[in-house]
Amino acid sequence: MRIPEKALIQAPLARYTRYPFRVLAAENGAHFTISELVNARGLFEHFNKKPNTHTQRLVYTDKLESNVGIQLFGNDPILFYKAAIEIEENTSFKFIDVNLGCPKRKVTKTGSGVALLKNLETVSQIIESLVKATNLPITIKTRLGWDSYVLDDLLKIAEDFGVFWVMIHGRYANESYDVPAKRDFLSDIIEKYEIPIIANGDVFSLQDINDYFDRNVSGIAIGRWARGNPLVFAHKEHTTPEERINVFNRFIELHLKVEKTIEKTKYSIPFIKAYAINTVKGFRNSSQIRYEIQRIKSLEDLVTFFSSRITEIVSSE
Ligand SMILES: Cc1cc2nc3c(=O)[nH]c(=O)nc-3n(C[C@H](O)[C@H](O)[C@H](O)COP(=O)(O)O)c2cc1C
Repeated sequence: MRIPEKALIQAPLARYTRYPFRVLAAENGAHFTISELVNARGLFEHFNKKPNTHTQRLVYTDKLESNVGIQLFGNDPILFYKAAIEIEENTSFKFIDVNLGCPKRKVTKTGSGVALLKNLETVSQIIESLVKATNLPITIKTRLGWDSYVLDDLLKIAEDFGVFWVMIHGRYANESYDVPAKRDFLSDIIEKYEIPIIANGDVFSLQDINDYFDRNVSGIAIGRWARGNPLVFAHKEHTTPEERINVFNRFIELHLKVEKTIEKTKYSIPFIKAYAINTVKGFRNSSQIRYEIQRIKSLEDLVTFFSSRITEIVSSE
């Protein structure tokens, strides 16, 4: 695996960065994509004693994805070890990303996600386990710290174990999206460490992209801006409704491909509607469009809505 110049990466987003979303990002220019966070224990159990359709959907990938990673969360180095072996043997993910950033209570109360930044000894054991278990590249996604800055210690661990990159979301554990993501710390670490740094947080324009690249980062990960709008990876700041509707139709096509491979399942309507709502952001009359999407109950009706009714609403006075 190699990081191209000015790499753009789809940041992991729970309930979004599954196969259809990731393929769209890649088809529009994202150099790497990453699954949403997957529980290391759940993944191991899926491939051993308890297969389940939820995990089956999360681990689905095929040849349309070439630079795709799976993100694991947990706090037990042994489970990371076991999960990594399953990933290498039973899936086609190309790298494994470790979640050191999730601030959700249900994750941190088990000592996982960003809570691991209070316990770098365990982080070190997790990375060591992964490196022993697999030849796949290992990457890290982190925040700046729990409540104090830990990047110096973390980056040393990452370099010692040959981690492929460290992606940094410039906020502390308890900082919400209202607090602007920090960027100024980047110049210091880029000067001090060899390891590639991927910057993340609050990229919503081409100017934001340029600002991060001016700080000499190896890549930029885009999260929320790409929701319903993978054309941002083609450096397109403004998109037409027609372009976005085409993206949505491709999303449905990819979604149906996955669903065909999974038994006993019904279409995941809330998941598709979330994508639909993001697709229409900024459209003319978008509140009317959102209202009608919310009331739709079947995939067929949603497809019909996107093939004709939506254009009617966008062009109505
Ligand atoms: C809905 C949502 C889900 C997210 N899920 C994950 C996740 O599964 N794993 C992770 O490391 N970060 C997750 N994040 C954090 C994003 O990857 C990213 O760090 C954050 O949104 C800041 O980047 P942005 O400003 O480009 O959105 C999530 C963020 C959002 C808004």
